[in-house]
Amino acid sequence: MSFEFITQQLKQQHQQARFRQRVCHDGEVGQSNGREIVVDGKSYLNFSSNDYLGLNNHPLINKALQEGIDRFGLSASASSLVTGFSYAHQTLENEICQWLNKPRCLLFSSGFSANLGILQALGQSSANIWLDKLSHASLIDGALSSKATVKRFKHNDINHLNTLISSIKQKTNTDNGLHEPILKTRDNIIVSEGVFSMDGDLAPIEQLSSLSNRYDGKLFIDDAHSIGVIGKNGQGSSSLANIDIVMATFGKAIASSGAFVVCQEDVFEYLTNFSKHYIYSTAISPALAWATNQSIKIIQTEHWRREKITELSEQFNQLLSPGIDLIPTQSSIHGLVVGGEEKTLLASKKLKERGLWVTAIRPPTVPLNSSRLRVTICSNHNANDIRYLAKNINEVLS
Ligand SMILES: Cc1ncc(COP(=O)(O)O)c(C=O)c1O
Repeated sequence: MSFEFITQQLKQQHQQARFRQRVCHDGEVGQSNGREIVVDGKSYLNFSSNDYLGLNNHPLINKALQEGIDRFGLSASASSLVTGFSYAHQTLENEICQWLNKPRCLLFSSGFSANLGILQALGQSSANIWLDKLSHASLIDGALSSKATVKRFKHNDINHLNTLISSIKQKTNTDNGLHEPILKTRDNIIVSEGVFSMDGDLAPIEQLSSLSNRYDGKLFIDDAHSIGVIGKNGQGSSSLANIDIVMATFGKAIASSGAFVVCQEDVFEYLTNFSKHYIYSTAISPALAWATNQSIKIIQTEHWRREKITELSEQFNQLLSPGIDLIPTQSSIHGLVVGGEEKTLLASKKLKERGLWVTAIRPPTVPLNSSRLRVTICSNHNANDIRYLAKNINEVLS
């Protein structure tokens, strides 16, 4: 029988308690300001949203979207290199460059496509891509589908990364017998996430940056979960050290859709000429670009949103029972490692019965036996929400 793998693999997903399904929420964000979601008429406190700064449905951003539609239309109607690039896109790129203090910016239609587009273009056969073990699927796919040699280093382990890079150097030196530091002729791209999506911990950005400099490489950081949340003005990892290439999605704290990359002039020109995901894709909606620009302006000035995340996260930490395996973090993401898939699904179900939406994250998104509840604390939550959440997690996981 043809396509037998479809039935087989779906069956296996069920057997392993890994079957995935979408949930359609009723879309009533307005009243609760995104703090709650309504599913089948029932309201839940939402601790699974990536709207970290609570900006979705913000009146000024909504107004900018309407202005953008009136001025530019909803669709770009072409790729950027044809006629899709407008003043709305230019304005957004300029704002991001100024915010992150980088010379150039390029907009992509999603973070996933940006990661593919960047790594496939930069990952030539002369390149080594060094990838953190816990990197997002889009980074792994981008690296593996490039022409580069790909190596994974242990999560956030600078010593391991250094050992891997220097061992290749020695091996290659011996192989070619020239005692030439081969890494000088290789293009080293070190790839990590600013804040890890499923653990919430931060990468050692400063150390990665100096290691990359030492090998004359390029540091590429996916700041999907750091942008808006980390740094005084929400600049993410760019506030911690010099990074050659930063990518971030608009779909999380920026509360819009699409993605950007910031870099130096030469990389910008190179991606504009050689990144297929950029060249052969319709430019993002100009109206969305206009609204996204408004969101980024708010992010830079409304510091209280970041302070609130810190304050509520500290409260959550203090209220959790000592036996609970909480991954330490300074971000919005709090991973509570439970272990097996079924146990984690059950905990999530029990929380739902108590009006709390906390998604169970299972392999292959996270390593085997580290299924977890991924709690996101956002600036539209309040102290009562956190008390209620912690009390119920303590009960469900005890
Ligand atoms: C770390 C990371 N990178 C990239 C992406 C993809 O971004 P987008 O949703 O814009 O495709 C995500 C999440 O969706 C992510 O968590």
